[in-house]
Amino acid sequence: MQPDPTELNQRFPEPSLTFDKGEGGLTRCQVHNQWAQAEFYLQGAHLTRYQKHHSLPLLWLSHQAVYALNHPIRGGLPICWPWFNQHASGNPAFPQHGFARTHQWSLRAVLETDNGTEIFLGFTSTPATQRWLPGEFDARYRISVGPTLSVEFSVTNTGEHSLNEIGCALHTYFSISQINEVIVTGLEGLDYLDQLDGLKKNQRGALKFNQETDRIYLQTQPRAIQIKDTGNRQKLDIQSQGSHSTVIWNPWKHKSTVMPDFPDQGYQTMICIETANAFEDTRTIEPGATHSISQTIQSFEL
Ligand code: BG6
Repeated sequence: MQPDPTELNQRFPEPSLTFDKGEGGLTRCQVHNQWAQAEFYLQGAHLTRYQKHHSLPLLWLSHQAVYALNHPIRGGLPICWPWFNQHASGNPAFPQHGFARTHQWSLRAVLETDNGTEIFLGFTSTPATQRWLPGEFDARYRISVGPTLSVEFSVTNTGEHSLNEIGCALHTYFSISQINEVIVTGLEGLDYLDQLDGLKKNQRGALKFNQETDRIYLQTQPRAIQIKDTGNRQKLDIQSQGSHSTVIWNPWKHKSTVMPDFPDQGYQTMICIETANAFEDTRTIEPGATHSISQTIQSFEL
């Protein structure tokens, strides 16, 4: 059952928030404050829009996205957790990128601050989640909608046994002018795992896109990563915490045509830069401990 938007509007009467039934009847929250507009779905705590006033939309969202119960939305900012990509067991019954992006989250609190609207969501372990991840946890997510977009995902182990090999990705789809007008800086000299052939390689110079790209960059903290988009005359600055790995993904021509919820030409106007705990960077969360991972995005005119 989807949470009732009328009841949420009563519980959270802050003027910057409006709840309604969004695409596919899924409960959605629209945020509008003095700095920006944003939108998220309670399924997956999935941010589908952030746009600073008088600026371009920051997030790419597929117009072929599927909005349905237990189905991930293509675009925006999905949370991949507690594993990244396939489950380590290889068992195809375990959903790709974990269950957080399709789980029903609760809205716990809203705070209006001098820097924007802070929205706090969460969900806790249940017998259903224990089928996928043995153990107990409290998962929380803060979305800050202000002059910058900032998200922080935290997990506390509330059980008696450690949570092992926990993977994560804040899988942000960035909207860009045109793929050949964009370079990514801040990765120079880093090693990465090329997921297309399984080989470890080294990044020489700035990253440009002229083919399918699916990489896990290693040891990325504490660098900031920038998208320089000459077509949009914009620079996006991406700061991460709690992460030593960054995933860069563009499906390019062929894969775009194979994914049913992805437009054939979609690869030309998006790139994913994902603040992650992937590959060698998966984490163990001991009983009582909390692990947090965050991404903050700021846009500048070029
Ligand atoms: C990226 C992975 O993070 O997500 C890619 O590196 C994957 O390998 C992509 O194809 C999209 O995944 P999904 O499950 O949303 O189609």
